[in-house]
Amino acid sequence: MRIELAAKVAKLKANTGVVPGLAVILVGEDPASKSYVTAKEKACAEIGVTSFDNRLPENTTEEELLALIHKLNQDPAVHGILVQLPLPKHIDEDRVIMAIAPEKDVDGFTPVNVGKLVIGQKAYLPCTPHGVVQLLLRSGVKLDGAHVVIVGRSNIVGKPLANLLLQKAPTGNATVTLCHTRTRDLATFTRQADIVIAAAGRPGTITADMVKDGAVVIDVGVNRVPAPEKPNGYKLVGDVDFDAIKEKASFITPVPGGVGPMTITMLLFNTVEAAEIAAENRK
Ligand SMILES: NC(=O)c1ccc[n+]([C@@H]2O[C@H](COP(=O)([O-])OP(=O)(O)OC[C@H]3O[C@@H](n4cnc5c(N)ncnc54)[C@H](OP(=O)(O)O)[C@@H]3O)[C@@H](O)[C@H]2O)c1
Repeated sequence: MRIELAAKVAKLKANTGVVPGLAVILVGEDPASKSYVTAKEKACAEIGVTSFDNRLPENTTEEELLALIHKLNQDPAVHGILVQLPLPKHIDEDRVIMAIAPEKDVDGFTPVNVGKLVIGQKAYLPCTPHGVVQLLLRSGVKLDGAHVVIVGRSNIVGKPLANLLLQKAPTGNATVTLCHTRTRDLATFTRQADIVIAAAGRPGTITADMVKDGAVVIDVGVNRVPAPEKPNGYKLVGDVDFDAIKEKASFITPVPGGVGPMTITMLLFNTVEAAEIAAENRK
């Protein structure tokens, strides 16, 4: 997909002079957020998207952040705005997300884009759910009529993913079960699934006995666990017991290296699309 996007960026630039631009905002010093932002900026550079780096100190006020977003909303060189979450506790995340112009909301988090997704209108789709769907389709996994069990109901992963997969569309048409911490006997549901998608943020949430033979298993979880043998003292693991489940699953995604890179790819996808729309509107 990134090769396809690089070709699109080159074509857009040659035909219209427009270079897609992504403004990235990071507030504070969270190490995981810093590494995500760096990875996103590197991926932009690789396909010819300009990234505008806005790294703000931890004590940035909500008003200062909102003022920056208003400025970026008006900037014609910026086609997408990404606010890396979580924000420091003193800033209201909902207010910040709502301030992003929907046509620059390449994360797909504003109520306008979420609403459009739910009712099946064209929208900027949230990157992780869209990445999961593309990963499945491009691997030849049939969604039509499949029973998908999602573990996790957050606004950024579980809920939008469930909505995408149940749309009456080639990217959907699945039967979706959405599980969470109040689900009674999670394994009863996951064992029925053709596709299990774990987005719980807890290592070991899905074990081999919870998955039927031949199932497709997508691991969205990214968890830091202590690893004294590593120089930084930790390693990243997903939510599923990869080594045991890979023996039964027909497909399984690793962590790191599965859903994470797809999330970044879909951010690039949305940014390129936003630039194409801006170039079209300029005519
Ligand atoms: N790879 C990527 O690009 C990417 C992107 C986004 C997130 N992630 C990772 O994905 C994971 C989920 O992220 P998130 O933001 O959606 O997390 P979140 O907001 O903490 O939501 C977790 C969800 O999982 C449910 N849950 C937790 N433990 C469970 C259990 N034992 N059984 C059943 N349900 C359980 C929770 O249920 P309740 O609602 O009942 O509390 C909640 O709905 C995290 O590890 C995150 O780092 C990865």
